[in-house]
Amino acid sequence: MYFKKMNLGKKIAGKFFGKDIISVDQFEKIDIWLIFNIADVMLRSLKNKEKRKDLRGSLVAELFYQPSTRTFASFLTAALKLEADILPIHGMQAYSSAAKGESLEDTIRTIEAIGADIIILRHPDDYSSEIAAKFSQVPIINAGAGVKEHPTQALLDLYTILKEKGRLENLQVGIVGDLKYGRTTHSLAKLLAKMDKISFTFVSPPDLKMPLVILKKLKSQKVKFQEEEDIEKVISKMDVLYWTRIQKEWFEAESKLDFYEKIKNMFVLSPALLKKAKKDLVVMHPLPRVNEIKYTVDKDKRAIYFKQISYGVPIRMALLAAVLGKA
Ligand code: NCD
Repeated sequence: MYFKKMNLGKKIAGKFFGKDIISVDQFEKIDIWLIFNIADVMLRSLKNKEKRKDLRGSLVAELFYQPSTRTFASFLTAALKLEADILPIHGMQAYSSAAKGESLEDTIRTIEAIGADIIILRHPDDYSSEIAAKFSQVPIINAGAGVKEHPTQALLDLYTILKEKGRLENLQVGIVGDLKYGRTTHSLAKLLAKMDKISFTFVSPPDLKMPLVILKKLKSQKVKFQEEEDIEKVISKMDVLYWTRIQKEWFEAESKLDFYEKIKNMFVLSPALLKKAKKDLVVMHPLPRVNEIKYTVDKDKRAIYFKQISYGVPIRMALLAAVLGKA
């Protein structure tokens, strides 16, 4: 396991070309808007069924060491829609030479030697993307690193809020569920905090609170937040509700399954609970859902978690094109 503190990646500062995308800490407002502008162009092409060739001749590799449906498929679709050559490898943990004990460094060097121009990586270690970036000449894109970060999800989450709420400022945002192990919540809180007049309510069981480093960061940026254990008390104030799964696999890894059983049903979103919420609320979720949102919620027009997925494709098209210098 790599838990050594390492360089968190260079600031984007308006220039994506050749950069690793490791953490939302690399982004300032201007970088977010830049990607959204490119994503708008991509979205228009997708809607008009326009053929794009931006990445013709580039080899995009995907190395996934953890389960994934959406992130894997949406990066793959993004690459295909830009006519890239693709090298998608799922199940790395079980089927690649990692199972024989090969290090991440050597695997990354291998994929680079084969000719990848960019490597999209999902891996259980918090610092996997930094390690990979250190050993590769080509850009690494973090598609989920341990419990720490999931920057491309945060970008698509902000893009979804912008498209569905019409603004990215002056929002009451409730983030609910597993805020300790939920990497999407960490990246989302940090990225959204860069916008104006955002006020967070973090709702979780006491043992699954938002990590202190993130709370400290918000405090230093003078971003308003409160911590809560009872969603019923606060739901009526929310403009955005970001619901998340209790991350069973991390409890398993730490032999805490008994604890998981105790808390797994603490936050379940139901139509009855949603009755107390604003009419123009949006309910988001990075998915997969297990049992934390009742299926009966799906027909409520405020539930936009499936639409949210669709915004991942233009965002990832924009990122791939920008990092490969083709935007
Ligand atoms: C999430 C992840 O893998 O971090 N899913 C995703 O990428 N959309 C959230 C989860 O697994 O609960």
